[in-house]
Amino acid sequence: MKSEFRFKTHQILALLAVVNFSVSRAENATPRERISLDSGWKFYLGNPWGDVVGLAKADDNRGPAKADFSDLDWRTVNLPHDWVIELPFDPSADCNHGFKPVGPGFATNDIAWYRRTFNLPGDDTGKRLWLDFDGVYRNCDIFVNGWFMGHHDDGYDSFHCDITPVAHPGGKNVIAVKIDASQFEGWFYEGAGIYRHVWLVKTSPLAIAPDGIFVSSRFPNNRPKGVAEVNVEAKLLNRQTNAANVDVRCEVISPTGKLVAKFHDSQKVKPLADKTLRLAGKVGAPELWSPASPRLYRLITTVQSDGKIVDREETEFGIRTIAFDATNGFLLNGQHYEIHGMCNHQDAAGVGVALPDALQYFRVAKLKEMGCDAYRTSHNAPTPELLEACDRLGMLVLDENRLFGSDAANLERLKGQIVRDRNHPSIFAWSLGNEEWSAQDTATGASVTKAMQNAAHSVDATRLCTLAVNSGSYGDFGIFSALDVNGFNYHFESMDAYHAAFPAANILGTEQGSGIGTRGIYTNDAARGYISAYDDHNPRWGQSAKEWWGFFATRPWASGAFDWTGFDYRGEPTPYQWPCISSHFGILDTCGFPKDNFWYYQSWWTTNIVLHLLPHWNWAGREGQDIDVRALSNCQEVELFLNGESLGRQTMQRNAELKWNVKYKPGVVSARGYNDGKLVAAAKVETTGEPATITLAGDRTTINADGRDVSVITVAIADAQNRTVPLATNLIHFALSGPGRIIGVGNGDPTDHEADAFVTKPDVQIIPANIGWRYKILPDVTNPRMAELQPGWDDSGWDKLNAQDNADSLKKPEKAIYRGQVAVTAEVLAAEAVELKIGRIDDRGWVYVNGKLAGESQDWASSPSFDIQPFLHAGTNTIAVAIINADGFGGLGNGVALRVFKKSDQPQWQRSVFNGLAQILVQSSGKPGELRLTATGDGIAPAAMTVEAR
Ligand code: GAL
Repeated sequence: MKSEFRFKTHQILALLAVVNFSVSRAENATPRERISLDSGWKFYLGNPWGDVVGLAKADDNRGPAKADFSDLDWRTVNLPHDWVIELPFDPSADCNHGFKPVGPGFATNDIAWYRRTFNLPGDDTGKRLWLDFDGVYRNCDIFVNGWFMGHHDDGYDSFHCDITPVAHPGGKNVIAVKIDASQFEGWFYEGAGIYRHVWLVKTSPLAIAPDGIFVSSRFPNNRPKGVAEVNVEAKLLNRQTNAANVDVRCEVISPTGKLVAKFHDSQKVKPLADKTLRLAGKVGAPELWSPASPRLYRLITTVQSDGKIVDREETEFGIRTIAFDATNGFLLNGQHYEIHGMCNHQDAAGVGVALPDALQYFRVAKLKEMGCDAYRTSHNAPTPELLEACDRLGMLVLDENRLFGSDAANLERLKGQIVRDRNHPSIFAWSLGNEEWSAQDTATGASVTKAMQNAAHSVDATRLCTLAVNSGSYGDFGIFSALDVNGFNYHFESMDAYHAAFPAANILGTEQGSGIGTRGIYTNDAARGYISAYDDHNPRWGQSAKEWWGFFATRPWASGAFDWTGFDYRGEPTPYQWPCISSHFGILDTCGFPKDNFWYYQSWWTTNIVLHLLPHWNWAGREGQDIDVRALSNCQEVELFLNGESLGRQTMQRNAELKWNVKYKPGVVSARGYNDGKLVAAAKVETTGEPATITLAGDRTTINADGRDVSVITVAIADAQNRTVPLATNLIHFALSGPGRIIGVGNGDPTDHEADAFVTKPDVQIIPANIGWRYKILPDVTNPRMAELQPGWDDSGWDKLNAQDNADSLKKPEKAIYRGQVAVTAEVLAAEAVELKIGRIDDRGWVYVNGKLAGESQDWASSPSFDIQPFLHAGTNTIAVAIINADGFGGLGNGVALRVFKKSDQPQWQRSVFNGLAQILVQSSGKPGELRLTATGDGIAPAAMTVEAR
């Protein structure tokens, strides 16, 4: 029997090596690295391996959890990745989750595996090595090099895995992640998979802890004048067995790159302990952060020990003051600041919940364009890059927690979210939860709220907490009796009375509106699942934009509010169900194409002069009938014309809209806007011709050649005069050449069941590996030039071996060479990979293909795989395996297989336009060069555009 002792010895040696190195290498410790692990994961939907976690021995984990498992025939994906977006729609699936066959009742689509290898250079020995997962949906088990690294339930928070003891510096490392999405967390589309980034972080053994820097600023009396005090908490981790004297230096760099403050502290950190240092400096006349002026400072924290730099981290932060006031509402930098907010789920056309960073920036920029200044991350912790986009572009954030509860694990999770996010100046409050129906009016609800709020304050004393309550009955009881800031979901009709009764209570409109409408649709159509985009429709609990904003606009004490929602999202297809698969609440659709209300908000939330007309003017067949024409504008007066003839001038009331009934006649409806009697704006909608051509326009035509950046491309159908055809539905086919890939397509149609993503699977062919194995016991097999390893050797006199059997051809410490011949066709040579998988090489072995070393195996218990494709030629090929059996039984066996992986044809990307528009997301593949996108459709002129990756 193979000895367990040998394995245990190996294990102990590995651990000793780590301990030794962490002591002896301390003086050479290298500063940190943060490496993206987003590219090149292998993905498998399903789990035929069952429960893979072994409980008897650390090594008992099975299936894909094992380091040597062959995933060669799995699909390759890049992160962020959402596998649910790739599934077809299914009317029997959960409506709120967008009719995708996942979750309870869809066992075959619920569990998936991701695997990835990465190499660590030898000089990583002695460093701390972490994997940072920004978010995995959900319920995952993590394995590294076959070792169980942890279980993580929650689908929205980030977590760190310290992989130091099991990592292989100087070699290959394997991460395996099993995900079980059979349970939902929310009531909206949640996707599934590693839908956020994964990072490999390297630090010295004495370093800043993960999320270990907290920087905040303060002015005397919270008045943003004069000198700001910058406070830094630096949590250090000492994983050395000796105590360390550390010097922590902080440098503050201004938005214009000047060093504006410098401070430091020296302390002793005990062995194998952590320590938090508290430091403070001063910045005179700082540039304040606000949505209008998102000025960012950088804190550079440098840790030195024994005269050497052991760590250095940069943290972006902003200097600003925030406060709530029962009379003046939310205050930013000492002034009332009206929250023009939008609630959003992380879900977009083409990619589901797996938003590339560029799409986060695109969406935040769209919201800003409409005048939105605040983003509520309903109803969960956001992706870190969304917060970064909000910091940099200027957007306040209400950062929301997922689960309401005071159990220890939940409080720790909440604290973890806050510790991760608290450096972001954009975050102005924490939301502890949303609509806890059974708790919101109860004493228990109040005490759970207090426990959560205290936990939040324990890690961030600079921000207040709110919770979105929709009970409708508000008083000094339940959650409202406990909260820092009382969040009203809907029910603004109760707010005046509440404010009068509780004049000292801070108030925020956490969720309002829920108006519904489909982009470019002006008549309700239940069969097609569309609802008119006039601002006239809302569910029972909601209000139109005019209603809710009209209320908040005149009540500064209410702080403003968040509309439900900025963007449409999959699921909750209110008021319809199947075949409608996504919501209509958005002011923009799932692609970010604006619906008409976009200009309502822009009129009243920006200082731009706005004049927008609706609907379109393509009403063939309705000649002579009344069409409801509206102007969304902030001009004092608007005059409307049909084909140049005035239909009257009307005065705009604040926060309202204007309407005309116009008898339809094809042509042009136009408007002029006046302020103080002066013409300040003009707008028109025209009857267009038939679809004639495709047009393509990217939000950016130069992207970074980093394998992650994305150009968001609008596909529009135009008539012969280049006017977008508002009713066009053409099917468009796409092709991309150059160093890029298409990652998704969409069109914002809430009832469209076309695919958002097209996936390729490799084509796998198994070649029987009964290749006439013969073997011979020899005194030595270690010389790679031995004639017995070469193709020409005559092995006809050697013993035959059935390699599908147990590997027990060697009975004692012996050495042998095993040989076989395989015929290879030109087709196999053209394949992507040819895998030789050997059930067992016992104990150690070297694989030669046509006399060349293709790989080696040092682990008798593994089933090693070798990609032998580079060593093959057409015709007969010789495989020789030299094996040394150290003790007991040994040799080659337990099954040998040859598998050939061929590239399948690339999928053909296509999408119909919806009301004239579609979207295609094009991503850099990592190399610089020109990406060329072509779009074709039947009966219309094609289009092409280039995006430069550099
Ligand atoms: C709210 C809820 C949101 C969404 C919305 C739809 O009550 O907080 O998550 O469901 O209703 O109107």
